[in-house]
Amino acid sequence: MVFINEHYLKLPGGYIFPEIARRVDALGRADPAAAQRIIHCGIGDVTEPLPLVAVSALNAAAAELSRRETFRGYGPAVGYGFLQECISRHDFRERGLQIDASEIFVSDGAKGDCGDILEILGPGNHVAVADPVYPVYVDTNVMAGNTTALCTDGGYGGLMYLPCTPENDFVPAPPKSEKAELIYLCYPNNPTGAMISREQLSEWVEYAMANDSIILYDVAYQAYISEPDLPRSIYEIPDARSCAIEFHSFSKNGGFTGVRCGYTVCPRSVTGRTREGRRVGLHELWTRRFQTRSNGVSYVVQRAAEALYTPDGQKQVAALIEHYLGNARILREGCRRLGLTVYGGVHAPYVWVACPEGVDSWGLFERLLEEANVVVIPGAGFGRCGEGFVRISAFNTRQNVEEVVRRLAGMKM
Ligand code: MLT
Repeated sequence: MVFINEHYLKLPGGYIFPEIARRVDALGRADPAAAQRIIHCGIGDVTEPLPLVAVSALNAAAAELSRRETFRGYGPAVGYGFLQECISRHDFRERGLQIDASEIFVSDGAKGDCGDILEILGPGNHVAVADPVYPVYVDTNVMAGNTTALCTDGGYGGLMYLPCTPENDFVPAPPKSEKAELIYLCYPNNPTGAMISREQLSEWVEYAMANDSIILYDVAYQAYISEPDLPRSIYEIPDARSCAIEFHSFSKNGGFTGVRCGYTVCPRSVTGRTREGRRVGLHELWTRRFQTRSNGVSYVVQRAAEALYTPDGQKQVAALIEHYLGNARILREGCRRLGLTVYGGVHAPYVWVACPEGVDSWGLFERLLEEANVVVIPGAGFGRCGEGFVRISAFNTRQNVEEVVRRLAGMKM
């Protein structure tokens, strides 16, 4: 008999997305006609085909692998130099940010990286998360043993929850006195669709520097930022090179949710310490982790990611972003016409809608599912402060989004 990781037993029954799928299946069994009509605005999964540049690059790379002279086996664990260099140049150096190619770690996506990073950070760090929050940050800390069991109030002891509400525009300020060693921030935000200003992000960097903390900054949705003055990377803030690790994804800009590719930026200047107080570079540990656990992302996929940075690739990515942001605008306006209060959807593909008086988030979820056959995510699934809201994803076809708005218009809110 083997011992299990008992921290897993602290997690509630299901991750939010499988739980929603279960409820949608139940409707399908009870009412097959309704199931045929269902429109999914729940999980943020892209619907539009891959950019043509990526398809051509995949084909060309596959052809290379079919010839003895150009065949490749194992690639470098942390990513091919051609992609690291391309990322470093386009996403950072051309924007005046000093991120070297060797500080880029190519992976199969930001979701895995956000969880895996805990493996190089010791147990016992005091961790701060937003509330509501992308559930991966919380669940992976539970799995790593950084929390107590689930408390009766729906939170975990050991985590510092940072309320994100309409009152603070869904951007928490750093705590005045309490200290967090590890802080997860995600902007453009999943799930609220909010964006952080340069001043607000600077306050967090100052906090991290003053407290010797590390910010884990998730910018999976940065391509949706539609104002040039807003920060696209935490490294735009002075000192962030010493206190921040940044997670990027090609899922939401290049439509790679099924292709799988992303990257982490771990600057050489970010350090943690041993129990005895010796400073250790996290770059060294993260490299070691990749070398031991990974043989890298496939060559064909890395060539496809590289193609997104070509001039044609940039145009095709921009067209995808414009499409999904157009959807977000239609959803926002449609919900407002119903008298609902709406947030987000301007710098993010998520629209965060306040529930009408007297209805909670699972209640609105059920009503939308049963009366309009539209799937959204109940805000309570993202944390206690998500109660009273639902998240509507703009990742859809234009036809479906227009149909969603038509169906909502037929409901009494
Ligand atoms: C979401 O719906 O929040 C995201 O698609 C999930 C993810 O990116 O893992």
